[in-house]
Amino acid sequence: MPTTTKEMLIEGLNEDLAGELGAIIRYNWQASKSFGPQGAEVRELFASEIPDELGHASFLTDVIVDLGGEPTTTPLDFERRDTLKEMVKLDLEMELQDVESYTERARQAEELGEVELKVRLEDMAADENEHARELRRILRGM
Ligand SMILES: [Fe+2]
Ligand SMILES: [Fe+2]
Repeated sequence: MPTTTKEMLIEGLNEDLAGELGAIIRYNWQASKSFGPQGAEVRELFASEIPDELGHASFLTDVIVDLGGEPTTTPLDFERRDTLKEMVKLDLEMELQDVESYTERARQAEELGEVELKVRLEDMAADENEHARELRRILRGM
């Protein structure tokens, strides 16, 4: 029996959107707070995530409108950590959370018969998993 309603899907997508808006701000802030020789490389990684997260945010905004919802403009807040290693650890946690969220959201979309949305959300879960892998690689050398 279907347990997911369209309203629940919209609510979940809005939580995801707040997370994406927060991720854009978080990576932008962290890039600016990356100092030293190691910081130069990490800064590049942080900065390179921003276009992906912006793409996710734009897509979610369109989908929420299309489903008849009102897209949030309020970003999810984040912890301001003061060392590079702690920043990367936080990002890794957040990316893994996003993988879980998009996997669950894809399941909900499928339950509602939103086939294209399901596939796009799975792609986004894959993107976040790739981000997590990049962060894990950096973290191993810190
Ligand atoms: Fe994202
Ligand atoms: Fe990401």
